[in-house]
Amino acid sequence: MITINELQFKEYISAQEIAELVKTLGTQITADYNDKNPLFVVTLKGSFIFAADLIRSVAIPCQVDFLSASSYAGGTESKGELTLLSALPNVRNRHIILVEDIVDTGLTLSKLVSLLQNEEPASLAVATLLFKPEVCKFTLPLTYVGKEIPPDFIVGYGLDYAEYGRNLPDIYVKC
Ligand code: PRP
Repeated sequence: MITINELQFKEYISAQEIAELVKTLGTQITADYNDKNPLFVVTLKGSFIFAADLIRSVAIPCQVDFLSASSYAGGTESKGELTLLSALPNVRNRHIILVEDIVDTGLTLSKLVSLLQNEEPASLAVATLLFKPEVCKFTLPLTYVGKEIPPDFIVGYGLDYAEYGRNLPDIYVKC
């Protein structure tokens, strides 16, 4: 059990299980994108650790770029609005794999997918470590999903509560 800003969390997904999920996704992407020179577009901040592990599990030439977006604004529930904090990467005519740590309501991804589709990529797929299907309100191109989880609040492995907990190697759930 750990405490972050007076909320208690218990271990939920171990670092070892995360590593296995990431390896599986990397193997799938390697097979699907051979000779396609994919561009990974990583949504900061939460995805930075997952993305770092994912691209190292991909054994083909690829590139990486970043964009910054936020929907939680310090709380434990998605706010329903997306704030884009950076310019969009140049995705025209590229095979894009949009990297997310978690798809919750789907709002962040639905907006980002729509923004990126407007820039005419050659293709667009999403790789997310975690997905909450019970609360997702959008139809999304979730080609690579590490694990489906119930709609609980989680931290660790890049995911935060009030900006804390991103450094935890395991993923924890709020008690
Ligand atoms: C989190 C997470 C996803 C998004 C998922 O980001 O990293 O991007 O929320 O929620 P949604 O499906 O309901 O939109 P957050 O807004 O907390 O920013 P952060 O990545 O900087 O922590």
